[in-house]
Amino acid sequence: MKILVVGKGGREHAICWKLSQSKEVEKIYAAPGNAGIGMIAECADIAIDDLKGLADFASSRGIDLTVVGPELPLTLGIVDEFESRGLKIFGPSQKASVIEGSKAFAKDFMQKYHIPTASFKIFTEHFEALDFVKGAGYPLVVKADGLAAGKGAVVCHNRDEACATVEKIMVQKVFGSAGLKLVIEEFLQGEEVTVMAFTDGKNVVPMVSSQDHKRIYDGDKGPNTGGMGAYAPTTLIDSKTMKLVYDEILEPTVQGLASEGRTYKGVLYVGLMLTTRGVKVLEYNCRFGDPETQAVLPLLESDLVEIFVNITEGYLNIDEIKWAEKSTATVVLASGGYPGNYHTGKVIKGLDQVNPAECLVFHAGTKKLDKELITNGGRVLGVTGIGSGLKEAIKNAYRNAEKINFENVFYRKDIGWRAANRVGNFG
Ligand code: AMP
Ligand code: GLY
Repeated sequence: MKILVVGKGGREHAICWKLSQSKEVEKIYAAPGNAGIGMIAECADIAIDDLKGLADFASSRGIDLTVVGPELPLTLGIVDEFESRGLKIFGPSQKASVIEGSKAFAKDFMQKYHIPTASFKIFTEHFEALDFVKGAGYPLVVKADGLAAGKGAVVCHNRDEACATVEKIMVQKVFGSAGLKLVIEEFLQGEEVTVMAFTDGKNVVPMVSSQDHKRIYDGDKGPNTGGMGAYAPTTLIDSKTMKLVYDEILEPTVQGLASEGRTYKGVLYVGLMLTTRGVKVLEYNCRFGDPETQAVLPLLESDLVEIFVNITEGYLNIDEIKWAEKSTATVVLASGGYPGNYHTGKVIKGLDQVNPAECLVFHAGTKKLDKELITNGGRVLGVTGIGSGLKEAIKNAYRNAEKINFENVFYRKDIGWRAANRVGNFG
C-alpha cells in the first residue's frame, strides 16, 4: 500500500515510524513532514490546510490510504473532501470533528448525554460574559469556542483576570472567529490524564493511558506549551477507572455522535481530570495527541495499517489490538525561547550517539540544510525511552537526551517522575 501522512510534528513521525513496520506498506509519503519523517517517507511540500492540494496529490500518486495528524484539516473537512473524490482517508468527518472544533458544541453535547464534565455557561455577547464573571466565584476557566492552537483556555484567579480574558477573546478577537463564542466553566482540581481510543463509530477500543506535561518548567510551573513530555501507561488509571471511562465517557460519546448523524471514525482523544468527585472530561480532541502518541504508539504490538484500514471500512476488530507490557517516557527537547519566540537554524549534534536499544527519537521541528540537521521549530525532538517499568523508561529517555545537543537546547527534567515515585516499586 501507499500511505500519505498529513502533518509535520513528532506525532506524525511516530505514526510514520509505526506504519513503516507493517508488511502492508510499500511506500509512505508525508505532507509536509520534517527531516526525521524524511528518513522513512517521501515528503511533499503541501500545507496541512490545502485540502484540494492534498487530495490532488493523493489521487495523482495513487495513494491507498491517507492518515491525518493535526486537527485543523479535520475540522476544515479533509475527510469529506477525500471521500467525495473516492479517496480512502483515516479520521473523523467535519461533522464529527466538531467535538474538538467547538468547545460550546462539546459542552452542550456532554450535558445532553450525561457525560461528566465541569459545569459551564456559554456566551455569545461579551457584555453578558463580563456581567457573569463580575458576580462569579474564583478560580474559573474562560475558553474560546474554536481552535486556538492550545492557547484558548485561560484559568482565571480573579475578576480582573477574567474580565481581561473576556475582552481579549471577544472584543480584541485575538483568536479571530474562534472567539465568537465563549465557554466559562468551573475550575476542576486534580490530576490530568489522557485516554485515546480507536473507534469505527460503533466499537471503541481504548489505547494505553498516558499523561502529558503541558507546563514549560519542572514541577508543572510556568506557561502552557504544546507539551514538554509524556509517559505511558499511567497507573493513575487502573482497570476499574478505565472501565468507568469506557462506560461513562467513551461509549456514550461515540453512540451520542452516531445518533446525531455524526458517526465518528478515527482516534477519539479525551483529556480527563481525576477529581475527588469522579472523572470529568476537560476536552475532546478529534485526533492523536502530541506528545502522547510518541509515548503510546511504541507500545502498540499490532499492525497500525490494519487498524486504520479496518476503521475506515467501518469494522474495527477489537481482539486485534495488543499492547506490550512495558513503559515509555518521552522527553521533548525544545529550542531557547519556546513557548515564546524561539531560535531556529541551530545545528543539531549527537543523534548518532543515541542507543536505539534504549529509545526512539521522533523529530518535530527539524530540517535538513545541505548535509546538516538544523532546528526548525520550538519543540525540536522527542526522545522516547522504553523500559520494562516506568523508572527504566525515564532513565533511558534522559540518558539518551543528554547526548543530543544544539545551541540553547532545554528540556524538563521531571517527565514521569511524580508517577514513578508514586508507584514506588513500579519498575
Ligand atoms: P482545553 O483547551 O479545554 O483542553 O484546556 C487546556 C488546559 O487548561 C487543560 O489541559 C487544563 O490543564 C486546563 N483546564 C481546562 N479546563 C479546565 C478546568 N475546567 N479546570 C481546570 N483546568 C482546566
Ligand atoms: N497533548 C495535548 C494535545 O495533543 O492536544
